[in-house]
Amino acid sequence: METAFLQPRCDSGQISVLQLTDIHLFAEESGNLLGVRTAESFKAVLASILNQSMPFDFVLVTGDISQDYSAESYQRFAHMIALLRAPVFFVPGNHDDGPLMYRMFSNLGVNTQRHLVCGNWQFVFLNSEVYAVPHGWVQRSELSFLKECCLNNPHLHTMICVHHLPLLVGSRWLDTQTMHNQDEFNAFVARLPNVRTVLCGHVHQQVDVMQGAIRYLASPSTSIQFEPLSHNFSLDLHGPGWRYLTLNIDGTLETQVHRLPQGRFIPDTGVEGY
Ligand SMILES: [Fe+2]
Repeated sequence: METAFLQPRCDSGQISVLQLTDIHLFAEESGNLLGVRTAESFKAVLASILNQSMPFDFVLVTGDISQDYSAESYQRFAHMIALLRAPVFFVPGNHDDGPLMYRMFSNLGVNTQRHLVCGNWQFVFLNSEVYAVPHGWVQRSELSFLKECCLNNPHLHTMICVHHLPLLVGSRWLDTQTMHNQDEFNAFVARLPNVRTVLCGHVHQQVDVMQGAIRYLASPSTSIQFEPLSHNFSLDLHGPGWRYLTLNIDGTLETQVHRLPQGRFIPDTGVEGY
């Protein structure tokens, strides 16, 4: 039996959204990613969000919820995110098992819809996962779905949520794992006049770039952080983070990245790969 999903109220005009990304949970609660126990860092992020009492209408999770594709990791996520008592929407990442997520979350209260209308905005959740490889690719069928949403709702400002950032970030190793059809993707979205922003994960760092009329955003991970502009694989010591967004009626937005204090979750910086 499917559980009822929480839905955003969407009645205040302005919309407040919390973005969480790259949580990388394991089947085992004690599982660690390069020295960081990811369930612990996620728990600390959730506690910090609750302590700050920041209002938000819903939560967007931009992929890599799991590190090991396990059903237990998705169960753990659903149990933990329920603490926020808010509607939760997601896209799969390269470390996820997309079909398993959709099957499981429909019974665990995490919303599996791929299109949301809220106030003057719509949110389109796209899949960029390519099975068992780190890079991304957005299929033509996904682009068609996006186009249909935009053409059917020309009066709505559009946020696209997709795991892989369709831009290079200036890190040689990480830029090999980008969305491999990013030129096609970016040209496609640039032709849709109501797209305002593309919200991503994957790069485990803060990105905020305007390209044409579209704002591309990526956010720190709730687990480990990649060092910006590093030639080879390298971790940085900034604390786990998340993003808060306020979406305005006119299609503009304000956003801030928040982080836990540095020093509580320290990764093993001696490793050479991920
Ligand atoms: Fe990730």
